Amino acid sequence: MKKILVTGGAGYIGSHTIVELIASGYTPVIVDNLCNTSTENIHGIEKITDTAVKWHNVDCTDKIAMDKVFTKEGRVEGVIHLAAYKAVEESVLKPEKYYNNNIGSLKVALNCMQENEVKNIVFSSSCNVYGMPDVLPVDENAPFKKAESPYGETKQICEEMLKDDTSNSVALRYFNPIGSHSSALIGDCSADSPSNLVPLITEVAIGKKEKITIFGDDYNTPDGTCIRDYIHVVDLAKSHVLAMEFLIKNPGKHAFNVGTGIGVSVLDAVKAFEKTNKLKINYSIGPRRIGDIEKIYADGSLVKTKLGWEPKEKLEQAMKSAWEWQKKKKR
Ligand code: NAD
Ligand code: WQD
Repeated sequence: MKKILVTGGAGYIGSHTIVELIASGYTPVIVDNLCNTSTENIHGIEKITDTAVKWHNVDCTDKIAMDKVFTKEGRVEGVIHLAAYKAVEESVLKPEKYYNNNIGSLKVALNCMQENEVKNIVFSSSCNVYGMPDVLPVDENAPFKKAESPYGETKQICEEMLKDDTSNSVALRYFNPIGSHSSALIGDCSADSPSNLVPLITEVAIGKKEKITIFGDDYNTPDGTCIRDYIHVVDLAKSHVLAMEFLIKNPGKHAFNVGTGIGVSVLDAVKAFEKTNKLKINYSIGPRRIGDIEKIYADGSLVKTKLGWEPKEKLEQAMKSAWEWQKKKKR
């Protein structure tokens, strides 16, 4: 069975990716220092898959510790590199923290791969490499605009590093991942208070927050609120398996958008949550959030043609699973 190292494999997207790798017959090995997650996800993966999962509690920026992981694991088919910090606002306040971890961990992974003759890497990139695109839906050839945050900059720099490296790589440019596995046994275990829309909606629903503030209703969009492409995390997780399979057969450098291609406004997202879960969400309209782009959604034709990947889950299912996770999660 093919062994895949998954850095950040105990996190939100990583845990869902591990489940899909196991379902497809791979042997994933987690490398995660739990800096933004908990063992709850590892237990959850094991319950869902009925499989014991190997986990190295290691900081991916620590080259010596990572050398030991590669030595211990022996032959590895590829690396899925998710380990990074992801809080956009915090990255503005603490840019160095983001440069050190997000760029540092990729640098170490690439060095270790080269030294151990591991050729294939799938990397977690983000649609915010595009900034506000001139053309929508945005395709993979759109130019990278100036990043709105150090976080966004780290994704742009990492993609450049991949281009300059000798490895074969797929950069998956995620749009807005939401929802959770239908079991509600894995999800986003981040200790910080959320700043993303859907986790905030679920916090209002459960009574942790009184209301959400919608950041602006004066954009040039049908209802005046910003438009995003919300992708179910289970669909997103599946794209990693297909990306690794594609890379093994098609060495080289690749980048794919992973989104639904459907633009959803903030108000529509709130309404979808309310309708699916039969709940009322208290909200008010506030000023625009600095750095927010007006609208973005994916052109998904390349990922469909090359990987055979298409989203299966509907927005409503994502909103339902997000609510189930909020009700069950321990932190
Ligand atoms: P997450 O914080 O849940 O997962 C990241 C995992 O990496 C965590 O488990 C954390 O403990 C681990 N980690 C971080 N730094 C580490 C280090 N130095 N050593 C070992 N482990 C480390 O976040 P996520 O939402 O699952 O994001 C996964 C990846 O996807 C990240 O690279 C993120 O930037 C990217 N991404 C996320 C989104 C999103 O909205 N969630 C969108 C686009 C891209
Ligand atoms: C979605 C929409 C807000 C909160 C960020 C990163 C991106 C990726 C996903 C990591 C926007 C609006 C939000 C609120 C609101 N993460 N909103 N009130 O900003 O599209 O993307 O997270 O890689 O890289 O940039 O996601 O969920 O914060 O916002 O009105 O309290 O909801 O203005 O239009 P965003 P988000």
